[in-house]
Amino acid sequence: MAGFQSLPGFRDFYPEDFSRRQHIFRTWRQAAVSFGFQEYDAPVLEPLELYKTKSGDEIEAQLFSFKDKGDREVSLRPEMTPTVCRMVGEKAGALKRPIKWFSIAEFYRYERAQKGRLRAFHQFNADIFGEAGPEAEIELIALLIQCLAGFGLTKDDFYVRLSDRDLWFFYLEALGFTDAQARSVLTAIDRYEKAGDDAFKVYTEAHGAMSADKKEKILAFLQVKSVDALERTITQTIPGETVKESLKAGDFSAQVADVTAKALPLAMRLLDWKKVLARLEAMGLKDFVQVDLSVVRGLAYYTGFVFEAFDRKGDLRALAGGGRYNDLIKKLGYADLPAVGFAIGDVTTSLLIEQRGLAPAHGTAPQVYVVMGGEAERKAAFADIQALRAAGFRVEYPFKDLAFGKQFKAASESGAKIALIYGGDELAKGVVKLRDLADRAEREIPRGRVVALVRELLTGH
Ligand code: HAM
Repeated sequence: MAGFQSLPGFRDFYPEDFSRRQHIFRTWRQAAVSFGFQEYDAPVLEPLELYKTKSGDEIEAQLFSFKDKGDREVSLRPEMTPTVCRMVGEKAGALKRPIKWFSIAEFYRYERAQKGRLRAFHQFNADIFGEAGPEAEIELIALLIQCLAGFGLTKDDFYVRLSDRDLWFFYLEALGFTDAQARSVLTAIDRYEKAGDDAFKVYTEAHGAMSADKKEKILAFLQVKSVDALERTITQTIPGETVKESLKAGDFSAQVADVTAKALPLAMRLLDWKKVLARLEAMGLKDFVQVDLSVVRGLAYYTGFVFEAFDRKGDLRALAGGGRYNDLIKKLGYADLPAVGFAIGDVTTSLLIEQRGLAPAHGTAPQVYVVMGGEAERKAAFADIQALRAAGFRVEYPFKDLAFGKQFKAASESGAKIALIYGGDELAKGVVKLRDLADRAEREIPRGRVVALVRELLTGH
């Protein structure tokens, strides 16, 4: 085969592709700015250590890592989260809280090639640091929805599945599982959708058979699809009437005598859940959000709420994913700072936009096409072309001397609205001809007024 090909999973962006990509980035950036997030950037190459054990086994196995010429173990970034934690950690004391940051950048994972998954892809990352309450999740889920709604996508096109690793741990603890067993259960749940009952094999191998009653309660939790169902399931698990009363009243300030240590955190979590869903409902976003405890997220660092966005038809892999990761900054050796965030990928997003016919038309046609006589006329034409471009208009002209007929053909094919004609006779009179390329009407205008008249025609003032 002649020539070269790009590496598998890496993309060339021809102008048409690039303009689609810019449309996506613009929409994301606009959403983030309207939510008061500030943009940052970071290196593509990082010390390998930053990802070891922090990102989780799956990402670690996919790293583009190597030794540099100074014998350092390095890796192309597979995600932004450890990097942004380092950045925030370094300056934590000096940053005004809550810290709301976003970035748009390219990432690299040595993934198996499949639809919607590449080895180089872009993510929009948005994270909030320094807010322990569910207010941060509310802000981020609303931003995630706007990042997709900004393209014209609706609740019929995509939705966000909301789950909670803390809730799972508290629930499993209340059922009598140890911490190690609970972790094993979550791994099984991560695989349950694909593997069914086989997903529990790893648990059984490590911890022995699970009682039918416990398994039933786990599967019941997986079926929970609303806060009401969540409350029902929790109240059935929690002993003690006072907890149930407090849950109803939403008040845990009083000392409640019959609360078992195991039941209290579970009940408190439920209040956070109610808050998140009520606030999102107040924003008019209720129909975009689905309670779905089958989402537990593969990445190692998540602690509380986790969420993922999917297309409604279920044709595509995840559009976005994120959650709370309160321990990561501390694990990297910095302050103890709570954090929540998510990332949307450009690959699945652009597939969905395309599927729904929402991709914008490609290309920025010139607004003005300049037609000119010979060399003598070029001098005057070039002065005006430069003045028009400096005024911000998109202007094109033929590089080579061409017959007028060919130039007019090029002018109409270019998509321009206006042609300016620089002929010898006109210039001798101190005018140029202005042709409206839509209705072909022509008039003469004084040369000194070219910029002002073009502005008037194109912008209306
Ligand atoms: P993630 O779930 O690994 O999370 O990735 C988030 C999104 O990035 C995915 O839903 C997908 O759209 C896109 N993505 C991931 N891998 C690929 C790939 N190989 N090809 C194409 N697109 C891909 C994270 O990366 C977390 N760091 C997100 C986060 C930010 N959590 C907290 N803050």
